[in-house]
Parts: sequence; C-alpha cells; structure tokens
Amino acid sequence: MALPSEFMQELRLRSDISQVVSGYVNLHRRGKISVGLCPFHGEKTPSFTVYPATESFYCFGCGVGGDVVSFIMRIENLDYIDAVKLLAQRAGLEMPQESSYDDSMQRLRLRVLEANREAARFFHSQLHTPQGKAGLEYLHGRQLSDGTIRSFGLGFAPDSWRSLTNHLLDKGFNSSELVQANLAMQSKKGDIYDRFRNRVMFPIIDTRGNVIAFGGRIMTDEKPKYLNTSDTVAFKKSNNLFALNRAKNSKSDKLILCEGYMDVIALHQAGFDFAVATLGTSLTSEQAVVIKRYTNTVVICYDSDEAGQKATARAIEILRRAGLDIHVLTIPDGKDPDEFIKKHGDSGAYRFRMLLENSGNDLEYKLTKLKEKYDMNTADGRAKYVNAAAVLLAGVRNSIQRDVYIGELAHEYNVTTESVERTVNYELRKRAKASKKDEFANAQKQLTNEGLAPIAGQRITGALRVVRAEEALIAYLVNNPDMAGKVTQSLPPQKFVTEFNRRVYSEVTSRILNGESAMLMDISPEFSAEEISRIAKILSNYNVDIATPKACMEYVDIILEESNKMTPKEITATMSNEEINRYFKWLGQAKKSKRKPN
Ligand code: GTP
Ligand code: MN
Repeated sequence: MALPSEFMQELRLRSDISQVVSGYVNLHRRGKISVGLCPFHGEKTPSFTVYPATESFYCFGCGVGGDVVSFIMRIENLDYIDAVKLLAQRAGLEMPQESSYDDSMQRLRLRVLEANREAARFFHSQLHTPQGKAGLEYLHGRQLSDGTIRSFGLGFAPDSWRSLTNHLLDKGFNSSELVQANLAMQSKKGDIYDRFRNRVMFPIIDTRGNVIAFGGRIMTDEKPKYLNTSDTVAFKKSNNLFALNRAKNSKSDKLILCEGYMDVIALHQAGFDFAVATLGTSLTSEQAVVIKRYTNTVVICYDSDEAGQKATARAIEILRRAGLDIHVLTIPDGKDPDEFIKKHGDSGAYRFRMLLENSGNDLEYKLTKLKEKYDMNTADGRAKYVNAAAVLLAGVRNSIQRDVYIGELAHEYNVTTESVERTVNYELRKRAKASKKDEFANAQKQLTNEGLAPIAGQRITGALRVVRAEEALIAYLVNNPDMAGKVTQSLPPQKFVTEFNRRVYSEVTSRILNGESAMLMDISPEFSAEEISRIAKILSNYNVDIATPKACMEYVDIILEESNKMTPKEITATMSNEEINRYFKWLGQAKKSKRKPN
C-alpha cells in the first residue's frame, strides 16, 4: 500500500481538509476549527468538527474521526487507494506509476466484481434453459412476475459441480479469482467446484451498481435454506443491505426494513419500492449508519414470530443510536410481509399500505408489547401495566415527548397525570443514583478498554491521569515535532502504560526522528479505521494551542511518575512478549545507570 512519500506529501499539501470536507458537509467556522452536522450519523446539533491545525476531523456524537483520506474512504465508501486516487484527481495531481505501489488488492477487487457480474448474467440466463426450468417455475410459484425476475436479475444455479466454474474459466477468470469471489470452492485435492448448486439466485447489488454477492435459496426443505456469499475483498455483509440500490431511488422518504430477500421482492412487486433487508444476519450499526445516509425514518417490518420480535427490539436500539426515527409495522397472524401480501391476493398491497400508515413509533410498539404481559381485564393488571409503562416512559429522553405520553397514559387509564408523573420522576431519580454508583465501575471499565489490568481503588485516578497524559503528549508531538528528540530521550515507548498509545507514540516519534512528517495522514496506513478514529479523538481532545514545551515535559513527568507506581503486572498487561522482553531489559539498564553514581 505504500505510495511514494513525496507524492503523499504533495497530496497532503494540496488537499486542505476543510475544503475537501466542505464538499460534503456544510461547515461553519468557529475560531480555528469548523463544525457541521455529521455525515456519518444523524444529528440535529453539530458535533462534527474539523481541525485544520492537525489536518483531522472528529465527531463527538458518533466517535468517527480521521484525516482527509479516511474521510473520503468513509463518505465515498472507497478503499485506501481509491480514496487517494479521488483526492489526487481533485488536486490535479497525477498518480504515481502503478508499479511503484501495491495495487494488487484493488485489482483483485475489480476482478471479483467482474466475475460476479458475469455470474449474475449466467444465473439469469439459466432460467430459460432446460436445466433451469425448475428455478423459473419455483419463482413463478412464488408469484414473481417476469418483470420482477428480470429487474431483480434473479437466476438459477444449475444442479452441477462445474457449470458456473467452467463458464467463468472460459471467460478468462482464473481459479483463484473464483475462489476469492466465493463463487467456487476448492476441494482438498485442489480442484475447484461451484459453490451454489441447484438454488435460485438473488444477486446483491451495491449502491454503485456492482454485483457484490449472492444469496441462493434451495427449492426444497433441505438445509441450509439460504446460502450467502461469505465476506470477500469486494463484499462486507455487515455494511450492505439487499435492494438498497433500488430503494435509494424511491420517491418515499422512508425505508422499510425486512428480514428476507423474498419479503423485499414481494414488497417491491406490490409497489413498495423502498423496502430493503439485511443479508441473513441481524442488523449492524454500520448498516444503520448507511441507512441514515438515505432516510430519517425506518419502518421495521420483521416476521411476527418470537424471533422476529426479538430482532425488532434489537434493531430499535441500533437504529435509535444512528439517530433514526423508527416505526414498527406488525403483521397480523404470524406472517411475514411476503406471505401477507400473497394471502390477500388483489387487496394485499392495499392492506399492507394500511398497516404501513397505521404503524406506530418505537415507543408505542414497546408499550403494546408491554401491555401483552398484563391481564388488562382486571384492575390489578391495568394498575401494574400503568406502573410498568411509567417506568418505560422514564427512558424517553425528550421531555416534551415524555410529557405527551404521560398525559395519554393517564387519560387512557383514568388516573391523574400527577400520579404517573410521580412514578416517572421516582424512576428518574433512582436511575441518577444508580449511575453515580456506576461511575466507579465505569472508570474501571474505561481502564480495561485502554488495555490496563484492573487497578486497586484509589489508584484509578492515577491510572486515568497517565492515560490522559499519554494522549496529550501524542497530540502535542504531532503539532510540535521539534520536541520529539528531547521527549524520546527521557521517555522510551515502553513507559507508556496503554498498548494503543504506545503504538501511536512509537509510530509518531520514529517518523519524526527519521526526518519525516507525522501528521495523521502519514501514520494512518499503519492503523485500522477504528484506530484512526481513536487517534483523531486524541488530537481533538487536547487544545494544542495552549500547550507549551513546559506542559509537554510535564506530561512526560506524569507518565514516568505514574507508570513507576504501577506494578510490573499492571504495566505489562498490555504488552506483547517481545515488548515485555524489551521492557525488562530497559528496566535492568535503568537500574544499573542509577546505581553507577553511587
Ligand atoms: P422464504 O422461506 O424463501 O420466504 O424465506 P424467508 O425470507 O421467509 O425466510 P426466513 O424468514 O427464514 O429468513 C429470513 C432471511 O434470513 C432470509 O432471507 C435469508 O437472508 C436469511 N436466512 C434464512 N435461512 C438462512 C440460512 O439457512 N442460512 C443463512 N445464511 N441465512 C438464512
Ligand atoms: Mn418468507
């Protein structure tokens, strides 16, 4: 992945982060920084911040951050090389010769996408051959029209070991590409064979129109019912949604979120062209963020069985965190959307629209679910329900929304608003108390997240203090590389107490000491996307303008002082074996040099 560093320096200079970001986010200047609404999660007040000084951005709402390249990677959904290419083009900078950097991943990705596209064509064409007849009949049996079959590009994988494989080899793809695309499997002997056999095929297409994966359904009761492409270089299950490529063009301002491919296709055929589904797994937070790019409102429409209801509860939490408004559509009599529409024949679409229009929000859904637990025919059952509902309402953040529901609940069950309010307030106070108690536990948890071994009571503050000093020092050095020489003389990386900060410190200082630049964009190729966000957070948390060389040396002192208080076990908790060896060697030398003067 290494691009020539002169090229990267030029690109950095020509890609002003505020300017690049302004192409996507409406930024407002606030002194030396700029803020705007975060493009990566939903929010109504801006917490997305751009720091020209450190050439970084960070969102306090969702914790995503990085440099100009990682911004483009995220917002355009590109890999590293493609993001660099886009920035280079924007800056009018020619990319270096392909041979000077490793483009093999990117080339493999393109080959996998081409193989998928060809496979989709092949599967689709099989429907009109003798061996594919069963597939076409199956799809017709599920009441899909030829138009629907064509527009979704549905197909059939023949009951054979080599039909797709041979077809793609003939087209010039090699075995390795087919295995990497997860279209073929390799036997122990090394032969390759079709992964999808005797299944109707659902191509999964991303929002740019690439065929990125397939789902294949068996036509009998055999298992597994669905077989899906595993993650490949061109496909990450947790980031994609079935039919989003179509739903994103819908006129509707909502998305319907279903469980299955067939539900989505049946809904589209019935005119609900804004339905999408997860790909055979439960909803992920990444998918929620993707959804948020296209809409503010999601209608969850999962199966009405117990598993579906559990999944609904989970999805509500995940979608909420992404800042989405949520409705829940419950289908009567244990059906899924596909079965419901079919069951009602000509009136299916109309009835589904009614369900859609009457679907309540997530709070109403939770209240309905809660109600099911009580015997509402007795006064005792109703009283218990109102109590439990009041406890649920205490969880509503928005106080106006909370008041409205308190009023409705009181009215519905003929109790005074004050008595419901009392229960809600009692619950709120209880929670505040509990959260105080949790503070200690949280501090401990925070340390565990930093990779530190549990630390005895009164030393927690010290441990947190050293972690903060590590972060402040890193932020300071990125902005003031001149200090790196002096700092590294007194502070070897081994003295860092957290593994992550130690890695960042090593990376930053070794680059600076080599005479290279150590901005986030320079070091980011060494870190994962989450790690880059974490570094961006560190850079944004410390106001480097007011830090002085004196403060910098104080950070060094704090790190030395606090890490000296820690037991070797606590210190080495985050180290690799190699680092532990180096640490003890360094300790030995330090002791010796201390002894010398005596
Ligand atoms: P039909 O029976 O064809 O109507 O499918 P369905 O969508 O009603 O099935 P179900 O509710 O059982 O599954 C919902 C979704 O979960 C499917 O669309 C698949 O994406 C996924 N799924 C179901 N069965 C399997 C399986 O055996 N393996 C995997 N990986 N995914 C499955
Ligand atoms: Mn179904």
